[in-house]
Amino acid sequence: MTDTILKVANVSKRFGGLQALSDVGIEIKRGQVYGLIGPNGAGKTTFFNVLTGLYTPDSGSFELAGKPYTPTAVHEVAKAGIARTFQNIRLFAEMTALENVMVGRHVRTHSGLIGAVLRTPGFKREEAEITERARELLEYVGIAKFADFKSRTLSYGDQRRLEIARALATDPQLIALDEPAAGMNATEKVLLRELIDRIRKDNRTILLIEHDVKLVMGLCDRVTVLDYGKQLSSGTPAEVQSDPKVIEAYLGTGGA
Ligand SMILES: Nc1ncnc2c1ncn2[C@@H]1O[C@H](COP(=O)(O)OP(=O)(O)OP(=O)(O)O)[C@@H](O)[C@H]1O
Ligand SMILES: [Mg+2]
Repeated sequence: MTDTILKVANVSKRFGGLQALSDVGIEIKRGQVYGLIGPNGAGKTTFFNVLTGLYTPDSGSFELAGKPYTPTAVHEVAKAGIARTFQNIRLFAEMTALENVMVGRHVRTHSGLIGAVLRTPGFKREEAEITERARELLEYVGIAKFADFKSRTLSYGDQRRLEIARALATDPQLIALDEPAAGMNATEKVLLRELIDRIRKDNRTILLIEHDVKLVMGLCDRVTVLDYGKQLSSGTPAEVQSDPKVIEAYLGTGGA
C-alpha cells in the first residue's frame, strides 16, 4: 500500500479572465494533516471544488491511494473516499442534526430505492445501522445532545462540527475541511483542534484550509501556500513561515 494518499499535479482553473489556479500540485501522505493557506481569493476553495468534482479543472491529474482518480459527480467522490466540509455551511436547515448525518451515511448503503420503497428487512436493518452510526458520530464530534434539534438552531461552531460529522459519515480516507474554525470562539477552537487530532489518530488524512495561523502551525505536518492561484511555497510549517515569499504575500495583503 502506498503511503501517498493524494497526489495532485498541474491543476489549473480559469474563470473568464481570472486564473484561479495555475499548475498547482500537492502530495499528501497517509495520516498527515496538510494545510492549504493563502490570502483571500488565493484559490483555496477553488482547489477543494476541483478536488471534489464541483468544478471541472482545465488541466490536472489526480491519484488517490496510488490509483488514478477523476473527480466527477459528488457522490462518486464520496465513494472514492474523499469527503469535505464547506466554507459557507451547507446543511439541511430544516432537518435535525441526526438526519443531516444520516444523509451523509446513505452514500455508503446498498439497499437502494427499491428496498426503501418496499421497506425490505435489509433496508430496515440498514436504516437502524445508519441511525446508530449517525448517533455515534454526533457523540464523536461532541454534539450528541443536539441530535434532535433542527440544524439551523445550532450555534455556528456546532454547525461546523455537524458538517464534520456528516463528512465522516461517508467513512472517508481523506477529509477536506474548508475553514472549520471560522466563526468559532477560542474555546470552540481548542475543541476543534482536539477533534482534528482525534480524526487523524483514527487513521484518516486531513486537508485543512484555515486562516488561523496558530491553528495551522500547531496542527499541520506540511503546508502549501497559494497566492493568486499560484503555489508560493510548500514545506513544514516552520519552513513556510520563514519563507520570504510567504511573508511578503501576507504583508502585501494586510495579513490573513
Ligand atoms: N464560480 C466562480 N466563478 C467566477 N470566479 C470564481 C468562482 N469561484 C471562485 N472564483 C474566483 O476565484 C478566485 C479564488 O477564489 P477562492 O474562493 O478559491 O479563494 P479562497 O482562497 O478560498 O479565498 P477565501 O480565503 O476568501 O475563502 C477569486 O478571485 C474568486 O472570486
Ligand atoms: Mg475559500
